[in-house]
Amino acid sequence: MEDRIVSGENVNQEEISFEKSLRPQTLAQYIGQEKVKHNLEVFIEAAKQREEALDHVLLYGPPGLGKTTLAMVIANEMGTTMRTTSGPAIERPGDLATILTTLEPGDVLFIDEIHRLNRSIEEILYPAMEDYCLDIVIGTGPTARSVRLDLPPFTLIGATTRAGQLSAPLRDRFGVIDHLEFYSEEHLTEIVTRTADILDTEVDKYGAVEIARRSRGTPRIANRLLKRVRDFAQVRSDGLVTESLAREALTLLQVDPRGLDTIDQRLLTTIIHSFRGGPVGLDTIAASIGEERETIEDMQEPYLLQIGFLQRTPRGRLVTDAAYAHLGLTKSE
Ligand code: ADE
Repeated sequence: MEDRIVSGENVNQEEISFEKSLRPQTLAQYIGQEKVKHNLEVFIEAAKQREEALDHVLLYGPPGLGKTTLAMVIANEMGTTMRTTSGPAIERPGDLATILTTLEPGDVLFIDEIHRLNRSIEEILYPAMEDYCLDIVIGTGPTARSVRLDLPPFTLIGATTRAGQLSAPLRDRFGVIDHLEFYSEEHLTEIVTRTADILDTEVDKYGAVEIARRSRGTPRIANRLLKRVRDFAQVRSDGLVTESLAREALTLLQVDPRGLDTIDQRLLTTIIHSFRGGPVGLDTIAASIGEERETIEDMQEPYLLQIGFLQRTPRGRLVTDAAYAHLGLTKSE
């Protein structure tokens, strides 16, 4: 994937370790997602009082909103260890069996992109989630027999950007299903301020607000933009991130005042100029701007829908009046 400054995806190892060092460790340190946090607090406390593993948790929502971070926080609050894997990494049933049989009681197993698990592997998960057991087939052909192994009680935390793509039987086995939402400007400002503190970067209040405002409601983007703005402050100024410095740096980075980058802008202007503002089908848009349909669905659409720049209609995507106004364009009748 193209390395976008406002992409919600992790792009390289440097970013991953940078993110890791900034991750909150406890629910109290975790900013935003108040409803999700308050409910989890109760479920975690109840499970701890009963000395049981926490029920399985499904976290869904756009990339970069803190699903992995929240899973780590949950494991930490439960006082357990988290094992991490992902849907596409589990290729064969044996891969999953190896992970499951080496879990310790109470462990958290985190499966990222759980919608990409293949069906034969999902089926192993059903009894593992429901009864903490594993059915394995030994041998092949007429002598093959099925053996049932007991597993320690564990908590599966699944994360996905596409809850709709999960099969119903898998979805139904999660006791807690939480949708992570885009963060408010206030919460993102708090996150930027906290991160700046950890990075030993001086950011004044309005500098933090400016970065928050251009971060598409997404902490991962806010932290990445802060890091880039810090570079400008260090090299082109005296190191202090002010509102005007943040604004200049983010403009040079081609992140506009609402956080739109060149891909978002191209998406909107292509619908406007080539399809009279829509409605137009997503596959047509994807082909016109040379991006994958899935990338647009995960990375561009959720935020553009959220801020009311794009509408989804039965006949396709439609650019709204608010988007025309933002881009300084007028509608041609
Ligand atoms: N860093 C990234 N996401 C965060 C969050 N939700 N709270 C605190 N720090 C964060």
